[in-house]
Amino acid sequence: MNVTLITGASGGIGEALATQLAVRKHNLLLVARRADKLEMLCTQLTETYGIQAQYIPADLSKADAAGQVFEECRKKKLTVTLLVNNAGIGSNGEFIKNDLQAELAMLQLNNASLVALCHFFLPDMIANNKGGIINVASLAAFFPSPYMAVYAASKVFVRSFTEALTQECKPYGIRVLLFSPGFTSTNFMNTPANDNAWGKALTDGAYTQTAEQVAIELIQAWKKKETFHVSGRFNAWAVRLGALIPNATIARMFASRKRKQMSQ
Ligand SMILES: NC(=O)c1ccc[n+]([C@@H]2O[C@H](COP(=O)([O-])OP(=O)(O)OC[C@H]3O[C@@H](n4cnc5c(N)ncnc54)[C@H](OP(=O)(O)O)[C@@H]3O)[C@@H](O)[C@H]2O)c1
Repeated sequence: MNVTLITGASGGIGEALATQLAVRKHNLLLVARRADKLEMLCTQLTETYGIQAQYIPADLSKADAAGQVFEECRKKKLTVTLLVNNAGIGSNGEFIKNDLQAELAMLQLNNASLVALCHFFLPDMIANNKGGIINVASLAAFFPSPYMAVYAASKVFVRSFTEALTQECKPYGIRVLLFSPGFTSTNFMNTPANDNAWGKALTDGAYTQTAEQVAIELIQAWKKKETFHVSGRFNAWAVRLGALIPNATIARMFASRKRKQMSQ
């Protein structure tokens, strides 16, 4: 059976995307750590929209998890025709004070597992002449971000990797989209590594979309065959304007603004 695989589908943007794709009759394979949440969502989407929805619980911050997901797909005889690498976490705070193991686990999740999943699933897409990949980055992929240094760098990686992969996949007719949301009202900022004074300073008064808005925008971008999309008109303008300013200047401005906010 052909399926759309969404990582990070137990909440936030991934869950909203699963729902919007179920409305559009995609059969789904949902991946995240919380099996109970995924099971409930699969039941709800199957009953409401008459699609087939299955799940694989996996902790993608572990090095062997992507391979296990791939093997499980083989066992279940599922063909992934659309891979959405959405799972990701962030961290805010002063780099030297952040927990190193947590930062490294974030890199495994945001980067290494994303690369591994592309590597595992692309050969079958190419062989079958059918398939596509959507990698979820962030507005942070466009701006060096002091006090969110490792997260922003992880999303720069996603951006660079995806833009290159888009071109490598073109001769095979496999489409790859780099999709970059801005602030979105999900649980993203409620994790221990984000829910702190630095995180609050970052999001205070920021332009924010709902997960449903972001999911619908992603689907529209995919339908229009875009290879690059920044979610939210305001965010798209910010990226265009930001490109005119040297990165070092942006980093200096962000750092001094955040330090000022923190001292208030
Ligand atoms: N929200 C924003 O403001 C924002 C802005 C820009 C970019 N983004 C990006 O959008 C994507 C989705 O974020 P979101 O806002 O929807 O966040 P969210 O509400 O926190 O959801 C994150 C999802 O990822 C899963 N996940 C977290 N750690 C995982 C792990 N180790 N292994 C497997 N799955 C894991 C979570 O499920 P479990 O806990 O069940 O594992 C959940 O389903 C991320 O890549 C994020 O960087 C978000």
